[in-house]
Amino acid sequence: MNFELTEEQVAVRDAARDFAQNVLKPGVIERDREQRFPTEEVKQLGELGFMGIMVDPKYGGSGMDAISYVLAMEEISKVDASTSVIMSVNNSLVCYGLEEYGTEEQKQKFLTPLASGQKIGAFCLSEPEAGSDATSQRTTAIDMGDHYLVNGTKNWITNGGTASTYIVIAQTDVEKGHKGINALIIEKDMPGFMVGAKEDKLGIRGSDTHTLMFQDVKVPKENRLGEDGFGFKFAMKTLSGGRIGIAAQALGIAAGAYDLALAYSKERKTFGKEIYKHQAISFKLADMATQIEGARLLVHKAAALKDAGKNYDLASSMAKLYASEVAMMQTIEAVQIHGGYGFVKEYHVERMMRDAKITQIYEGTSEVQKIVISRSILRD
Ligand code: CAA
Repeated sequence: MNFELTEEQVAVRDAARDFAQNVLKPGVIERDREQRFPTEEVKQLGELGFMGIMVDPKYGGSGMDAISYVLAMEEISKVDASTSVIMSVNNSLVCYGLEEYGTEEQKQKFLTPLASGQKIGAFCLSEPEAGSDATSQRTTAIDMGDHYLVNGTKNWITNGGTASTYIVIAQTDVEKGHKGINALIIEKDMPGFMVGAKEDKLGIRGSDTHTLMFQDVKVPKENRLGEDGFGFKFAMKTLSGGRIGIAAQALGIAAGAYDLALAYSKERKTFGKEIYKHQAISFKLADMATQIEGARLLVHKAAALKDAGKNYDLASSMAKLYASEVAMMQTIEAVQIHGGYGFVKEYHVERMMRDAKITQIYEGTSEVQKIVISRSILRD
């Protein structure tokens, strides 16, 4: 087992770290307060090649491996989880889905602008009654011969307002259950497509999350991803990789909060000594460091399996489950170590605590990960 990173992976990690510290950090508190999308910052992420990290360069991507992707996600998330979710959805759910399952024509038309960062993508699965129970799609895509007629509503869609290209999961044949679901590429300017209200969220407030409405949207047949009825499996396979990205995001939030807590514990004095010299704090830091390393190993294992072309469904769910629990617990501890300072915005850790929560919810709640894991370990 080789734990050494390659020169290329180190270069990606360092570039992401520089970008996070120098470009993202200065405005992160204001973007959170004002719920402002990082438009300029995402443009720069695209120029750095981070919006299509794993995509083949012939489609505008950087052609790097999944380990490089999680390293970049961790560094960006240490500072700004709003920006990292924009990046993660574009990379894992939209670019991956198009590259893996799209036709050559679809890749040329839709993947290239997304991977090169000229456009942003969104992945639309969740509905008012289809969150964890993703087979219960109410959005319909009726087969009209040369096109599908799409009607319905999607909820909590990351990049909902800023995206130009949407992968939409919809039910074509209700009789066939999940085998009657399709994944369609919908463009923002298609008549009948409407972007609804922006959500006012607890965390990741710099990202834009919207309800989307579809009213008699005519989607050409050539915009379907995969064979007729492949939509649910498309969503499951794509989300499996997405969970590696969100696990890396959760890891980054935890590690970012730990770094701040560690630095603070060396500055702050109580009872005549720096607080890290009190066992109450040093034991917290020891737990944090150990759990973060455990989460990192799970994230890297899932990414390494993906790079090796092996099945990573179980590993990605384990990584997401554990890293998101660690993110939640460790950001609470980081606030505690900061005391009163931890409760004010200037010290960043309160935002990280709010941001951590969503990692236990999106791309499958912790309970969904436990369904995937338990089915896998209890099979046969
Ligand atoms: N790869 C390939 N096929 C898969 C698969 C995978 N990883 N997982 C399931 N399938 C297949 C199954 O084999 C089955 O096919 P067959 O009938 O041919 O055997 C089919 O899909 C149905 O599978 P299940 O019976 O396991 O389905 P289920 O209804 O029991 O649901 C679930 C399983 C794991 C709970 C699933 O519904 C799920 O993952 N739900 C959560 C959805 C989710 O993550 N939503 C997040 C929204 S996206 C988001 O958050 C993005 C964002 O904006 C940040």
